[in-house]
Amino acid sequence: MDKFVIKGGRRLTGSVVISGAKNAAVAILPAVILSDEPCIIENVPDISDVNISLRILREMGAVVENLGKDVYKIDPTGIDKVCVPYETARKMRASYYFLGALLGKFNKARVSMPGGCPLGDRPIDQHLKAFSALGAEYTLSQGMIDLKADQLRGNQIFFDVVTVGATMNAMLAAVKAEGLTVIENAAKEPHIVDLANFLNSMGANIMGAGTDVIKIRGVQHLHGTSYSVIPDQIEAGTFMIAAAATGGDVMIENITPKHLESITKKLEKIGVNIEQYDDSMRVWVDGPLVKANVKTTPHPGFPTDMQPQIAALLTLAEGTSIVTEGVWEQRFRYVDELRRMGADITVNGKVALIEGTGSLMGAPVKACDLRAGAALIIAGLAANGITEIEDIYHIERGYDCMEGKLRGLGADIEKISVPDKMAESKNARAAV
Ligand code: EPZ
Repeated sequence: MDKFVIKGGRRLTGSVVISGAKNAAVAILPAVILSDEPCIIENVPDISDVNISLRILREMGAVVENLGKDVYKIDPTGIDKVCVPYETARKMRASYYFLGALLGKFNKARVSMPGGCPLGDRPIDQHLKAFSALGAEYTLSQGMIDLKADQLRGNQIFFDVVTVGATMNAMLAAVKAEGLTVIENAAKEPHIVDLANFLNSMGANIMGAGTDVIKIRGVQHLHGTSYSVIPDQIEAGTFMIAAAATGGDVMIENITPKHLESITKKLEKIGVNIEQYDDSMRVWVDGPLVKANVKTTPHPGFPTDMQPQIAALLTLAEGTSIVTEGVWEQRFRYVDELRRMGADITVNGKVALIEGTGSLMGAPVKACDLRAGAALIIAGLAANGITEIEDIYHIERGYDCMEGKLRGLGADIEKISVPDKMAESKNARAAV
């Protein structure tokens, strides 16, 4: 059990290099299964969701080699298992991408129902709808999803909701299906385009990724490739807000500014200065932060994965802000923790009313999910006094060396190991 201890009140200054995108990497790694040759993947973030994906690939029979800090060579030719068991799948939501990749390659898959951040009801009906449209049959039993098909055939898939995961899974399953697949009401996030670019670099024929209609003409074989994952827009946005919350001046490097447009525009409204370059951005504050209204929507709208972080910033701004969550049922679970730090936030359903108090105070708090954890770090950096954040394993699922990068910007943050009381008492009982 680790925790972060932050002494707040230090301005962040200097530059930070953003890692590869979690939500692209966790789809691209399973997608390697579809290749008939080894692939080299660069700019892979060092986060626990990626490490679990690599472990699943190894357990299936792939050979995974680490060629350098963030570069992996993956040879999928020895894969002889099509099952992702409960023990690994429960640890991350993105384990569902193994369904699409295994089905696309072997016409069958057996994957435990996925875990991941607790954000409310997380159905997979649209994933199953896509697999069925392509000719697969599914059964759900004892927490496992089984898929099988004699032959996958292209078809029209219309999603009832805009869903990132089901769009990517439909692409993975359709890429080798016979004929044409048309996905309508597709999600348009940068990681959708990244997965399409990766699959096309292996010889797939995918058009329209990044719009709401994606067309896929099935191919028989996919070959090896060398590919670099896009920068993480949410990690970049989190550091932009951390810079703003501490009144800092930070250069955010290795980013695609276009992917950050909705975040940039909102931060400028709040009073944050931003100067954009080709693959970097300077973010600084030299005046008061002011209230704003934020509503999260699928891309190109303001991302739900930045909602807790911007809410933390708005607690420091002048005036009353309204934050509306438009994607998940339960994404305000962090609010109680921010209240412990002096924030004045009232939640009513999917709407949070934030009365800016101008300052926060340090407190012991708990990360309840990945982006909630990021929001608490931002609050802790800006607060007066010491903040201790427990359950940081949520944060480590999606941020590559968060504390090291923040220390590089001048933050006073340390990761401390605390003995796991439950395990200790179990051991003590076992020893008696
Ligand atoms: C992805 O989750 C991300 N995770 C999430 O990132 C992100 O919050 C989310 O997209 C929205 O951008 C990964 O990429 C691994 P969805 P995903 O399918 O794909 C409903 C983070 O912090 N829905 O786009 O699981 C669903 O309930 C995380 O990095 C159905 O109704 O999300 C939700 O309301 C957490 N049926 C909406 O669609 C389905 O079959 C969007 O979900 C699927 C989804």
